[in-house]
Amino acid sequence: MRVAVTGAGGRLGRALMTALQEAPFTGPLGPLAWSRPTYDIDDPEAAARCIRQAAPEVVVHAAAWTDVDGCAREPERAMRRNAMAVAELAEACVRAGADLVLISTNEVFDGRRTDGRGYAPEDRPRPGNPYGASKLAGETAAQAAFLRHGGLIDGLGAVGPLGPASTPATGASSAPIPAAPQLAIVRTAWLYGPPGNDFPARILAAADRARASGEPLRVVGDEIGSPTFAPDLAEGILELLAAGMFAGVHHIVNSGSVSRAGWARHVLAATGVEVPIVEIPLATWTRPSVPPAWAVLAPTLPPSGEHLRPWQAAFADYAPLLRRERAANGR
Ligand SMILES: NC(=O)c1ccc[n+]([C@@H]2O[C@H](COP(=O)([O-])OP(=O)(O)OC[C@H]3O[C@@H](n4cnc5c(N)ncnc54)[C@H](OP(=O)(O)O)[C@@H]3O)[C@@H](O)[C@H]2O)c1
Repeated sequence: MRVAVTGAGGRLGRALMTALQEAPFTGPLGPLAWSRPTYDIDDPEAAARCIRQAAPEVVVHAAAWTDVDGCAREPERAMRRNAMAVAELAEACVRAGADLVLISTNEVFDGRRTDGRGYAPEDRPRPGNPYGASKLAGETAAQAAFLRHGGLIDGLGAVGPLGPASTPATGASSAPIPAAPQLAIVRTAWLYGPPGNDFPARILAAADRARASGEPLRVVGDEIGSPTFAPDLAEGILELLAAGMFAGVHHIVNSGSVSRAGWARHVLAATGVEVPIVEIPLATWTRPSVPPAWAVLAPTLPPSGEHLRPWQAAFADYAPLLRRERAANGR
C-alpha cells in the first residue's frame, strides 16, 4: 500500500512515518513524506500536483494549522489552511481513487457537555472557537467532495461510480476495478509526544519557573480531556488501514480522562519535580482561543476490538525521555 503522510515533520506525522516504516503493508519503499515545500497547505495547487506525481493509494492528512490562538486571531487564514486545503486534498484524492484519512479534533465540539459522557461520532459538532470551526469546515468539505465523486464516507456502503459494481473509467475490460475511495475522519485530543514542546514539556518549564520564583504552579482544574500519546494514535490509524474498511468517523484517544491540573501533577510526579499546584478555573485563564472545558471523546471501537491503553500507561513510556532530557540540561 502506497501511503503518503502530510505534515510528516509534525508530532503525529513523525509518529506515523515511524509506524508506517515498520508496517508490513507499506512495502519496501516505505511511506511518502509530504512536507513543505513539496506539499504546502497555503498552495491551492499542491494537493493535486502531489497526488498526480506520486499516485498514493492512501493519504493521511496530519498537516494543519494547529496554533489555536493564531487561528483565533486570523480565522480566515485558519479556514484557508484547515478547511480549503482539505477540500482541495479530498477532491484530488477521490478523483484519483485514493483513500483519505483526515485527522481532526475534539475541538469540533464546544465542550459544554455536562452529563459526563464523552463526545461520540453521532453527536452534533458545534465548535466553540475558530480553530474548531476551521477543522469542522475541513471535515464537511472532505465529506462533500467524497460524496460528489462517489467515494465512501461511512461504513454503510454508499458506493458511487468508482465502486466495485461500476465499469472502469478507462473502459479497459482487463483493468482491475477500483474500489470506491474511502474517507476516514479521525478525531483525537490532547496530543503529546516527540519532538516536545507539548503539554508535558511546557508544564515542566512552567514548574521550573515557579520553583525559581518561589510561587506555586497555577493550572486549570476544570478543563478535562484524554491525553493521547502520538505513537499510540499512529498505531490506531495503522490498525484502521490494515483492516482495509475504514470509511467513517473514528474517535481515537488513550483511555480515561483527567483535568489539566491532574495531568500536570502526573507529569511532575513521573519526572520527580516537586512544585505545589494551585488549581484555577478555566474562565480565569484568558487567551485568544477558548478551549472546550469538556474535551473528552468517547473512543470508537477499533477493528481489533481493543481501545488504546490508559493514558497513564502511555505516559509511562514517554516519561523516561523527559527525565533524560532534564538530566542532560542539568535539571
Ligand atoms: N496537538 C493536539 O493536541 C491535537 C489535538 C487534536 C487534534 N489534533 C490534530 O492532529 C493533527 C496533527 O497535529 P500535530 O499535533 O501533529 O500538529 P503539529 O505538530 O503542529 O504538526 C502540524 C504539521 O502541519 C504542518 N504544516 C503547518 N503549516 C503547513 C503548511 N503551510 N504547509 C504544509 N504543512 C504545514 C507542519 O509542518 P512543519 O513541520 O513544516 O511546521 C507540521 O508538520 C492536526 O490535524 C491537528 O489538528 C492535534
